[in-house]
Amino acid sequence: MANQSSLNTYGERIDRRLGELLPPADAVPEKLHEAMRHSCLAPGKRLRPALAMACAESIGGNGDSVLDAGCAIEFVHCFSLIHDDLPAIDNDDLRRGIPTCHKVFGEAIAILAGDALFALAFDTLANGPWPADQRVRAIRSLTLATGSSGLVGGETIDILSEGKPIERSTLELIHARKTGSLIASSCEIGAILAGATSDQSGQLYRYGQAIGLAFQIADDLLNETSTAAQLGKAAGSDRERGKATYPAMFGVEASRRMAIETAESGIACLVDIPNPNLLAELARYSVERLR
Ligand code: IPE
Ligand code: IPE
Ligand code: MG
Ligand code: MG
Repeated sequence: MANQSSLNTYGERIDRRLGELLPPADAVPEKLHEAMRHSCLAPGKRLRPALAMACAESIGGNGDSVLDAGCAIEFVHCFSLIHDDLPAIDNDDLRRGIPTCHKVFGEAIAILAGDALFALAFDTLANGPWPADQRVRAIRSLTLATGSSGLVGGETIDILSEGKPIERSTLELIHARKTGSLIASSCEIGAILAGATSDQSGQLYRYGQAIGLAFQIADDLLNETSTAAQLGKAAGSDRERGKATYPAMFGVEASRRMAIETAESGIACLVDIPNPNLLAELARYSVERLR
């Protein structure tokens, strides 16, 4: 099993900092802040901030120096999960082992909590201690990864494709955008803020694109083959909703092979990265994970 312990090492620091950066639950409007904390502080894997930190370290930088950027990325991710679970999108009741934001706080507060997390992400990145030119490049990376040509665009094509026959290229586009773009940007931001050369940040971005796609193929496989108790979120739901997934298009065995090959192709991008070992472990973890 690829390494979960490296994720765990980063995880404690990330969890603590997320708690500090989020508005306190007793600040007005309390319901909004409680909802933001409910979803963000629930036990996620924290893969995206861990990747930002690991990418910084892979080129000789300090992981902790990009911790706040990792938290900014996690805020975007949490916003996307809250909105993805809404009745209008995937209509899910369970996330990270607890009831979804709209189940606890109602739909209106869940929509607004997502909106506020999105704003908090960019405030966190804009406020960080990095040189202004690096900060602007990082903000631009996160903006592109999130918007209509990134995560939000991918979510759109995902729901518009439900129950319809689609081409392989559309499936790849959905996965690259809804999941790959934020994971690639996590790697790129870690690289930019740690002073990577343009070759290095390009390689780390392409590594992130590959493992992002592999990660989403693994998510499709887990939805098909695992249980809600194991995942902390619904299982079997993609098939029920007629979602465009790798197992639906290629079957379970071929999808597994494709996920492994895609992750390995990401590792192969790391030619000018002096310390690639942890990134190779995280790539393999992205496909071998059990939740
Ligand atoms: C879930 O992401 C949504 C996808 C992009 C597949 P994660 O599997 O990283 O979710 P958490 O953060 O661990 O809850
Ligand atoms: C993952 O979407 C991508 C985003 C949330 C942006 P999914 O709908 O495939 O992920 P899960 O299975 O709900 O975590
Ligand atoms: Mg979805
Ligand atoms: Mg979903």
